[in-house]
Amino acid sequence: VICQRVEARSGLRVAAIARSLEVALETLMRDVGVERGALEERLLTDDALLERLTLLLTIPETHFFRVKPQMKALANVVLPTLARDRASIRVWSAGCSTGEEAYTLAMLALEGQGPAVSVLGTDLHPGSLEVARAARYGAWSFRDTPPHVRQMYFDAVASARWQVKPEVRDLVKFAALNLLEAHWTVDGTFDLIVCRNVMIYFSNDNAQRLIARLAARLRPGGWLLLGPSDPPPLPATLQRAGLVVRFEDGAILYRRAALRAVTPDRAPAPPPAVPKLEPRAPNAPTLELPVFIVGALDTVAPAAQTDAPSDLHVGLSALEGDDLPLALAALRRAAYLEPTSAFVQFALAQALVSSGQSARARSALRAAARLLEGLSDDAALSGQGMTVADLRRGVQALNVMLGA
Ligand SMILES: C[S@@+](CC[C@H](N)C(=O)[O-])C[C@H]1O[C@@H](n2cnc3c(N)ncnc32)[C@H](O)[C@@H]1O
Repeated sequence: VICQRVEARSGLRVAAIARSLEVALETLMRDVGVERGALEERLLTDDALLERLTLLLTIPETHFFRVKPQMKALANVVLPTLARDRASIRVWSAGCSTGEEAYTLAMLALEGQGPAVSVLGTDLHPGSLEVARAARYGAWSFRDTPPHVRQMYFDAVASARWQVKPEVRDLVKFAALNLLEAHWTVDGTFDLIVCRNVMIYFSNDNAQRLIARLAARLRPGGWLLLGPSDPPPLPATLQRAGLVVRFEDGAILYRRAALRAVTPDRAPAPPPAVPKLEPRAPNAPTLELPVFIVGALDTVAPAAQTDAPSDLHVGLSALEGDDLPLALAALRRAAYLEPTSAFVQFALAQALVSSGQSARARSALRAAARLLEGLSDDAALSGQGMTVADLRRGVQALNVMLGA
């Protein structure tokens, strides 16, 4: 019954962490000074005590600049893309614990010198939020922080304690929120939502529901970042939520349908012309991808400037613009015309997974893996910056997402 109450309150699937429940109950018995039976009885009715138990179970572990590839993807791709498209950027750190993640996002935005940014950090536990608001941290919180960042954005306040500088604190607000509650007290939509290491112990149903709810709070073209160990969205969730899977700088990201000017009082714009997918001349320029990223098209202009864009480029652009039927048509054709390209198979797999076609996505990934067989990890694939190892990582990540 206690497990059910904890799960109903926080989404935490206690069965998945049975051993920590024992440890947590013993700690609580010591703290409260009662026997096990009495404690269990009180937990049935005492919400504050249940809250303390949940806190002991949800390790609020966090630190600044957590998970390097994700930080690189935010700094190199997500924030610059938003800076280009937006007059101001609104960010949500959902499940922010003691605030390190929310402040990291503000610092990354400041580093990029883009438009004004505001960050909202929310968490289930008021105690964690108090720490977040005080913004004072010990050395352990900085274990992944580049040294210049601590110098620039923190003041030393006591021995081995540093406080986030006011110019960063001013950008970040905190509020209590249980992400499982039916009605969120958080208003509006966001350009970037980061929800990492919150759903690790959620049931898959709760996780899929939460991902879809978070996606619904993204502005068009907005990004969602989950933790590497969180349950990934199932293809059906991606499809329902209108999210496209993206691989950026070694991190998996999800993006909502790209920016489209929606002006309610004007007639809808005519659909974009569908490029004719003619076979390319044998000597037509091939697309050079500086990174193995679907979203880095902005930096990959060459094929777009030719009269006949390559099928691969059309496919990647369509994926970027959330035009999945066009993406699938173009990438299938690219796969037919370039049967030995592992990258094409990988791009096709992304379109298939985003449109909920898991079995076909798996088969494209198998084809990509076969084409990569025997190649050395550091061999460049197509253009600078992209190696066989990068693509292998992408294939593996998509396979994990598909449960293959
Ligand atoms: C491991 S911490 C992650 C902190 C930060 N996101 C990171 O990745 O570094 C998980 C946080 O999720 C919060 N949490 C767990 N269940 C929650 C829920 N149902 N609603 C809101 N926050 C929740 C916990 O209180 C905890 O602070």
